Amino acid sequence: MAVQISPSILSADFARLADEAAAVPNADWLHVDVMDYHFVPNLTLGLPVVEALRKATSLPLDCHLMIDDPDRWAPSYAEAGAGSVTIHAEASSAPVRTLREIRSLGARAGLALNPATAVEPYEDLLREIDMLLLMTVEPGFGGQSFLDMVLPKIRRARDLIERHGGQVWLQVDGGIAGDTIERCAVAGADVFVAGNAVYGADDPAAAIDSLRALADG
Ligand code: DX5
Ligand code: ZN
Repeated sequence: MAVQISPSILSADFARLADEAAAVPNADWLHVDVMDYHFVPNLTLGLPVVEALRKATSLPLDCHLMIDDPDRWAPSYAEAGAGSVTIHAEASSAPVRTLREIRSLGARAGLALNPATAVEPYEDLLREIDMLLLMTVEPGFGGQSFLDMVLPKIRRARDLIERHGGQVWLQVDGGIAGDTIERCAVAGADVFVAGNAVYGADDPAAAIDSLRALADG
C-alpha cells in the first residue's frame, strides 16, 4: 500500500484549527487526538470539536481515542463523521463489539497498542480492524522522543498482518520525524502520524512531502 501521512493537530494551534487543517492539503488524513485526563494525563478535545472540524475540512478525520471507556464513546465519533476511529486495547472491555459498531457506522475501525502492550494477544482481532496503531511513545503528549524498543513489534505486527491477508493498515504514532520514519517504514509501517515534525515546521505541507519521500524510500 502507498505510504500515508496523518498530521496530528495536537501540535497545531487549537485556536485556529480550520486554518491549520487548510495548511496540510497534501495530507491523507487529519489525526485528531482525543484525551480525557483519565486514560492519559492530558485533556484535548471531544465530539463538538470533531463535528466542527468535519465541516471545516475535506480531509478525512483519523480520530485516536485516548480515553477511558471507549466502548461507550467511540460510536459517536463514527456518527460525527470520522473516517477512522481508533480505540486503545488497554481501555476497552468489549473491543469486538465496539470495533464492529464503528464499522457498521461506516468508519474504519482501529485498534491502538501502547509501547508495552504486546501485539500477539490481539492476533484474532485483526479480522475486526482496518488499522492497527502501534504507539511509538507513551500516549498523552506531542513532541516526545521515539521509542526504539517498538521497532521489533512493528516487524512482528507486519508479519501477523501479512499472514492474515495484508489488508490491515499499520500506523505508527509518536516521535515520527525525518530521523525515525524510514526505520518504521522498513519495519513495515505504512501510515505515519506526525505532530511536531509537521506543525513545528515553517512549511507544514513541505514537511509532509519530505516525510512521505523518506517513507517511500
Ligand atoms: C500522542 C499522540 C500523538 C502526538 C504525536 O499521545 O497520540 O498523535 O500528536 O506527536 P509527535 O509527532 O510530536 O510525537
Ligand atoms: Zn495520536
